[in-house]
Amino acid sequence: MSSDQSKTIQAIELFCPGTIANISCGFDVLGCCLDSVGDRMWIRKTSEPGLRISKITGADLPLDPAMNVAGAAIEALLAALDAAPVFGFELEIEKNIKPGSGIGSSAASAAGAVFGVNKLLGEPFTATELVQFAAEGERLACGSPIADNVTPALLGGFTLVQSEEPLRVYRLPVISGLWATVIHPQIEIKTSESRAILPQKIALKDAIRQWANVGTLVHALHLNDHELFGLSLKDHIVEPHRSKLIPLFDEVRDAALDLGALGCGISGSGPSIFTFSKSMEIAEKVKSKFEEIYSETSIPFQVYTSRINEEGIKILNQES
Ligand code: HSE
Repeated sequence: MSSDQSKTIQAIELFCPGTIANISCGFDVLGCCLDSVGDRMWIRKTSEPGLRISKITGADLPLDPAMNVAGAAIEALLAALDAAPVFGFELEIEKNIKPGSGIGSSAASAAGAVFGVNKLLGEPFTATELVQFAAEGERLACGSPIADNVTPALLGGFTLVQSEEPLRVYRLPVISGLWATVIHPQIEIKTSESRAILPQKIALKDAIRQWANVGTLVHALHLNDHELFGLSLKDHIVEPHRSKLIPLFDEVRDAALDLGALGCGISGSGPSIFTFSKSMEIAEKVKSKFEEIYSETSIPFQVYTSRINEEGIKILNQES
């Protein structure tokens, strides 16, 4: 670790992307980064040391850094520095990813916070070290340092978490021309609740099918093979339990596959549902169909189409 605080920027504005965790077969290990849904974050240096979260719009979240995922992630980063900085940080967040949506809302805040603070410190830490700090934000949000959303938010593209402790994460190749369509039905499903309903033991035959699909998915990404990728987008372990919590899940999935989507599953711990398509045209048709299906319910919803974001967090502005 090395840093030169004298050469760094004073303030930064970031796009903090939404992410799809699990990607059907890869519960807690696979993830990918979205491009058109995300938060905005502003971080500036202050003369007074310490961290202050001055404003959060778009969601009712705590400003107390000790209670906020961005605050917890930054504290983890600062604790790993050789010496505390002589300045402090002020943070402002515009939440566009609703908490509890299953599109990595807490991860976007935690990842953006450590990415930005690292820049303002002169980049003492590597991207993988930042994943470790951001995962501490996830620990505050859901009780364990799950890294399947913070890794794609920080590394971009598709990612694999081989191990959480010690942390080993990998960036995977991205299939060309891939589009995601994500519907967020606005019902509340807490990650802790959707984890609590999962079985602690699974049948060996289901485990075999699942790890065959994880291996196939990674292979398909390396081969740039859309059909093989679609074939692997199946979840024999988690989805059968969680899909019962999501109204119209089966209808939405069947409609997406009928329209030519490569696959469809639950985004993270839900309630959002994602599909992947090999063109924007199919992704847009899927979006329209999702809107049609959910318009017949009284459940408010949002639908996004997005390219896969290969960059991760983006710098929108910075001041020297
Ligand atoms: N992988 C987690 C779950 C959610 O499905 O419970 C995102 O970290």
